[in-house]
This record gives sequence, structure tokens and C-alpha cells, in this order.
Amino acid sequence: MDSLEQLIDEARRAFAAATQPAALENEKARFLGKSGSLTERLKRLGSLDPEQRRTEGARINAAKAAIEGMLAEQRNRLAQEAMQTRLSAEAVDVSLPGRRREPGGIHPVLRTWMRVEEIFSSIGFDVADGPEIETDWFNFTALNNPDNHPARSMQDTFYVDVQDADGKPLLLRTHTSPIQVRYARRTPPPLRVIAPGRTYRVDSDATHSPMFHQVEGLWIDEDVSFADLKGVYTDFLRRFFETDDLAVRFRPSYFPFTEPSAEIDMMFTTGARKGRWLEISGAGQVHPKVVQNFGLDPERYIGFAFGSGLERLTMLRYGVDDLRLFFEGDLRFLETFSR
Ligand code: PHE
Repeated sequence: MDSLEQLIDEARRAFAAATQPAALENEKARFLGKSGSLTERLKRLGSLDPEQRRTEGARINAAKAAIEGMLAEQRNRLAQEAMQTRLSAEAVDVSLPGRRREPGGIHPVLRTWMRVEEIFSSIGFDVADGPEIETDWFNFTALNNPDNHPARSMQDTFYVDVQDADGKPLLLRTHTSPIQVRYARRTPPPLRVIAPGRTYRVDSDATHSPMFHQVEGLWIDEDVSFADLKGVYTDFLRRFFETDDLAVRFRPSYFPFTEPSAEIDMMFTTGARKGRWLEISGAGQVHPKVVQNFGLDPERYIGFAFGSGLERLTMLRYGVDDLRLFFEGDLRFLETFSR
């Protein structure tokens, strides 16, 4: 076999062996490139006499055409293959069922939050909000918490590494009660408000979470009594649990910001959950010092406040016994509330 034929043969094998476009282009350079074998041969034609130059030139050009033809063929083949691979990779199986977009659901605690707002709005309560990062004054001092009250201690409270104007560290509010103070200081009485929101304490077990929700209630006027609190709260519970079959009792308790103070307990009087008192809320008549901190005259204004746990209400309503379930984000649990 003459060397040109050998060259063509070599190119055929090299091109066939190139399975990637980049490899093929490298092989092309080896035969047809500026310093490729054929180009070298064409350059050497100059040293031949005219007759030889013509026949040799024609042979080289024919070989070049053959090699270029094989190159084009292989390029084509690789392109086809790439297309096939892509087509099968991107193939749509039209026989598969479509992917559904699952509708989102409202978190059970937020559902409670919304129900509470709805019920209290319907009896004329305003809905207020306040910052989750509070000052010591709004969270404790204004609410008549003595400086050494255990709730202020590092164990109970999440402090923020930033100081307020009084040089006291900011903190994550430990209850929604500071919103009472903020609201009362900017709203002239008579005032009726609830304030649902997130609250934080260093606490974690089946019935406590470091982040939880409360709803604060406040009613201040010239002649609001404990009887009003009992009436409003009992009515709220009946509407919230959608039953009249529940009993409510006020048990003496202590909060620095109310005097007298009570713990509100409720009990279902029928059904599977009947017969057990459950603590549902703190409450009381707003302490005169707190009324003063509202910027009001405690000789003239009186009222009550309550603070209830939204998780607690949710757990009782749906019969959930571990509060942590609300915050684990397990869809199997959460979906049972959105159906
Ligand atoms: N802030 C109290 C708590 O978090 C609850 C409460 C609110 C009690 C209003 C009385 C009046 O425990």
C-alpha cells in the first residue's frame, strides 16, 4: 500500500475511534491542519519537477478530499448520536400521570390565631401587634415586675447582645403583655384589644417550646369588672370550642401586673374530654401601677387583662398532646389540619 493510501486508512481508523466531537477535531488537525500530514506533503510539492508535481498534486488533493469526506461523515454521525442521547434523556413519558401542585394549608396554630381574632373582633376588640424584640421596660418594669423577679433571669429569658437607651439588654419578649402597655399608651380609653403573637422563653418539653404563641387581651374603661372578664372569656371559649358544654373557673393566682390575679381553667362537661380541669389562661384586674404606666389615672380607669397560650387552645381543640408536633414541620401531621 502506498503511503497516501496508508494515510487515508489511518485517518479512517482515527476518525472512527473518535467518539467525542473534541477528539474528532483533534484528529482532523493531525491530518488536515496547518502542520498536518497532508499539508506537509503539499508543501513538499514545490521541490518536484512540473510533471511529477501535477500527478502528485492531484493524488494528494484526491486523498485530502477523501479524508475531508470521512471527517464530515464522522462529524455527522457524532451529531446524530448526541441528538439521540439528548432526545432519549429529555423524553417525556406521556403515559405518566401529571404532577399535582399540592394546595398549601394553614398551620393549626395560625388557624387558632385567626379564629381568636375573628371571635374577639366580632365583640368589638381591636387587634394590636408589637415588636418581638422588646426592651426590659416594656416586658418587665412597666408591668410591675420587680427587678429581682425570676422571669428576668438568664434561665428564663433570651437576651439580645444589644442595649437599649437605659443600658439594659434587649430581649425576646417573654409574653404578649408588653403589647398591652404599648397599645394603652397610644390609645385613649375606653379600650378593648387583643394582641396575638410569638413569645420566647428558655423552656423545652412536651408542653413547652422556646418559641410559642400567646394572645393578650385588655379591656380598660371606667367600670369594667371581673364579672365582665368572666363573661367575655367564657363566651370566647364557647365560641372557640363550638360548644356550650364547658365549665369555666377562676382560680386565685399571682402575676405582678394584675391584682387580684387568676388562672382560668376550663372543663368540657360532655364528650370524650369531659371531667378534667385544664389551665387555659392567666388573667386579672390590671394593677394600678400598670394603669399608671399606661399613662392613665388608676383612680379613674380600671380593667382586666388575660394572656392565653395559642398552642394550648389548639391542643385542646384538636386533641393534640405534644406541642412539639406543631414545630417539627412534619407534613403527615400538618396535613391533617388542612383537609
Ligand atoms: N403574661 C402572663 C404570662 O405570660 C399571662 C397574663 C396576661 C396574666 C395578662 C395576667 C394578665 O404568663
